Amino acid sequence: MNQSTWAAVDTYFDGMLTGEDDVLRAAVRACDQAGLPRIQVTPNQGAMLHLLARARGARRVLEIGTLGAYSTIWLARALPASGRVITLERDPTHAAVARANLARAGLADRVQVIEGAALNTLPGVAGPFDLFFIDADKGSNALYFEWALRLASPGAVIVIDNVVRGGAVVEAGSDDESVRGVRRLVESIARTPGIASAALQTVGSKGYDGFILAMVAGREA
Ligand code: SAH
Ligand code: DHB
Ligand code: MG
Repeated sequence: MNQSTWAAVDTYFDGMLTGEDDVLRAAVRACDQAGLPRIQVTPNQGAMLHLLARARGARRVLEIGTLGAYSTIWLARALPASGRVITLERDPTHAAVARANLARAGLADRVQVIEGAALNTLPGVAGPFDLFFIDADKGSNALYFEWALRLASPGAVIVIDNVVRGGAVVEAGSDDESVRGVRRLVESIARTPGIASAALQTVGSKGYDGFILAMVAGREA
């Protein structure tokens, strides 16, 4: 089993199940043309975010780390017309590409892109949110998780991307700030009462990584 097998399986399921359409493909093209890094979620992962938002019945979503709004489009399409996504992006070039992609997707009125470093803009963001997608600088993961707890509705779902890092997450002595950030996040989740969580390892066209799925218990849970 190797990277080309994983990519071929992603391509197979993308073609059969995922439903990536021309708007999403155009968003990826626009990201490539603007020279953005090719680190957006895969079509299968985007579809999974979309399904989680629908399964939760989410009306308000907070994303940290927009890039060109590829994942944002998947999430925004899961919401009712009155639903809203707020997405936080530090890089002004990324934010501009994201806004153009959202406008082309017909989602400009459903999504607000807030420019700036998330730890600076989060204090001005009003909750509650039903679903969070944490996908920015991994060193700040634990802080983003704490913000999500503050802004969560009962039963809110929190998804954190890129928590396996090719398996490096198990290296307790790692000096990689991303690995350290993921480990601080995991420790923070583990010591928070009332959180149900699971970490899923994934392979696919983006290699070997994974995500954490967490749920904030409702009052009576
Ligand atoms: N969620 C996107 C991919 C995000 S890539 C998708 O799947 O389509 C990570 C993004 O986080 C990059 O655009 C990067 O500029 C942004 N980022 C990094 N540090 C940040 C910070 N401190 N605040 C806000 N955004 C940040
Ligand atoms: C990187 C960031 C991501 O969000 C991702 O899904 C993959 C890679 C990165 O910064 O390298
Ligand atoms: Mg990611």
